[in-house]
Amino acid sequence: MKKITIYLVLILFGCTNVSENDLIDQTELPNLVTYINDVKPIIDNNCIVCHTNPPENGAPMPLLTYNNVKEAIQNRGLIDRISSNDLGFLMPFGGPRLPQHLIDTIIEWQADGLLEE
Ligand code: HEC
Repeated sequence: MKKITIYLVLILFGCTNVSENDLIDQTELPNLVTYINDVKPIIDNNCIVCHTNPPENGAPMPLLTYNNVKEAIQNRGLIDRISSNDLGFLMPFGGPRLPQHLIDTIIEWQADGLLEE
């Protein structure tokens, strides 16, 4: 009886370890941020009311296409603008600041190589 109990404990412990490893493996699968899946919805919901084409409310450029947004990241400081704590500099213009997880998604997009899809 004692032996059986020990075997049972070993089996249970072994199973617990295996499923833990599976979970860790899944979270390590690469999940790259793309314009189509992740970034476009954020821009559409928060920016194109002004950054349309032609732009409105004094905005200097559209953010309607992949190339528009990529160019704004590379040459117009888009990430600094959405990350700022200065309401006079922050985008969306006049605030409020985007939720942090949306800002992080755009930062991650740049880190992943500004993929279109
Ligand atoms: C209510 C209108 C409005 C909204 C909404 C808005 N913007 Fe703007 N944006 C402006 C205006 C006006 C300017 C020009 C004034 C300035 O630079 O602060 C501007 C400037 C910018 C610039 C700098 C461009 C340059 O060449 O210097 C960036 C980058 C930018 N916006 C990105 C965004 C992003 C990203 C969003 C959405 C998260 C957004 N904006 C939402 C009105 C808006």
